[in-house]
Amino acid sequence: MKVTVVGAGAVGATCADNIARKELCQELVLLDIKEGIAEGKAQDMMQTAALLGFDTKITGSTNDYSKTAGSDVVVITSGLPRKPGMTREELIGVNAGIVRGVTQNILQNSPDAIIIIISNPMDTMTYLSLTATKIPKNRIIGMGGALDSARFRYQLSQQLDCSPADLNAIVVGGHGDTTMIPLIRLATWNSVPVTKFLSENQQKEIIADTMVGGATLTKLIGTSAWYAPGAAGASLVESIIRDEKKLISCCVALDGEYGQKDICLGVPVVIGKSGWEKIVDLGLNEEEQALFNKSAEAVRNMNDVLKTL
Ligand code: 2OP
Repeated sequence: MKVTVVGAGAVGATCADNIARKELCQELVLLDIKEGIAEGKAQDMMQTAALLGFDTKITGSTNDYSKTAGSDVVVITSGLPRKPGMTREELIGVNAGIVRGVTQNILQNSPDAIIIIISNPMDTMTYLSLTATKIPKNRIIGMGGALDSARFRYQLSQQLDCSPADLNAIVVGGHGDTTMIPLIRLATWNSVPVTKFLSENQQKEIIADTMVGGATLTKLIGTSAWYAPGAAGASLVESIIRDEKKLISCCVALDGEYGQKDICLGVPVVIGKSGWEKIVDLGLNEEEQALFNKSAEAVRNMNDVLKTL
């Protein structure tokens, strides 16, 4: 198996590091536009192999896409990260051009690759990759919901004083501070609804903190987060390569599911060797569906901006 991670910034490098530590593939290529960065980080990671005991061969490349040829899975993290006070949506102008070019270069060298999009604004970048390439929709997966659901489990675990691993909780909708929908009604602590243990106020606080999870970190660190985004990307690579059929919230093309069409938005999907294999219906109640529709409207407005670029 061969995996490429495009963008050797903090998110891309962390994603590659997670992939290598788990030995998800024999060959891992890290590619970046900036001279030497990908080669340097690849070599640095390879020097951990003797310490960590992994066998994946990591190589770096400065923008030479021929090195990525024959990749089974490609993770795209390219583009600018957000700065404190910025929304993910403000990155569209610069990142749309970058993501369009990267996706085309990747497919020229790996026409059968499954593509995972991390670049922001993630929902629109996923839609752009799908519409610009016209490859089968199951091969384009936006990572947002996987990350947001992990952040939701973290916030729940803090209030419940329990292990995040014991929690089952999902975020659907867009990957934006105001468009994501943490579904607290459906969240469970080892099969017991979490709402049983939390007051209305605690529930509101958890939802609000989850929604601004990325912005909170950007403010603290001065740039966008990378540990959880990188690990979330790697978890999708793992479910594809090991054909795990995990049910993960991801941004995928909707064709009537959840009442939406011609849009990529976060819903629970089964992730396996063909990419996203099926969409699972959560049976949203009226209030949740209204939030989902509102989220779709905001993402659709952002997608419309693509036409003006
Ligand atoms: C975040 O939420 C990178 O969008 C990503 O941290």
